[in-house]
Amino acid sequence: MLNKKMEQAINAQINAELYSSYLYLAMCAHFESVSLGGMATWMRMQAQEELFHAIKMYDFVHERGGKVTLSAIAKPPGQWKTPLAVFTAVLEHEQKVTGLINDLVNLALDERDHATNIFLQWFVTEQVEEEASASTIVDKLKLIGTDANGLFVLDNELGQRVFTPPPAA
Ligand code: FEO
Repeated sequence: MLNKKMEQAINAQINAELYSSYLYLAMCAHFESVSLGGMATWMRMQAQEELFHAIKMYDFVHERGGKVTLSAIAKPPGQWKTPLAVFTAVLEHEQKVTGLINDLVNLALDERDHATNIFLQWFVTEQVEEEASASTIVDKLKLIGTDANGLFVLDNELGQRVFTPPPAA
């Protein structure tokens, strides 16, 4: 059984994951509007992944006898100056989410909630991947600079992304 403190904290994280999904959907719309279809696809897949994160936590709360309480999702920004600005914002956002996940782990340890701690380890690992993939794209965009050909090649590469829900572990 989840205690109230842990339940509230996971509920807050469900909101943060839903906001992440909303943010990436806003970035997807931005890329659609500037005809960078591959980057739009990448963002669409990322938005689905965040929704998956939220649902994974949602299911866990119920599994542990808790109650999910949904709250308002904040309005995401809608415009960015360059693809580099977008992906830098992704990286910064993921670094922030890593901090939130670490705070949740710390709370689970303080509360001696071993089941939640084990559950959260999946997210700890996931955040390493999330930060690494955003960081790689930021590096590539810096290398590309203002080279339009490079941008089109990267757009094409990012458009190959598909969303495959990770196995429940
Ligand atoms: Fe749900 Fe991108 O972390």
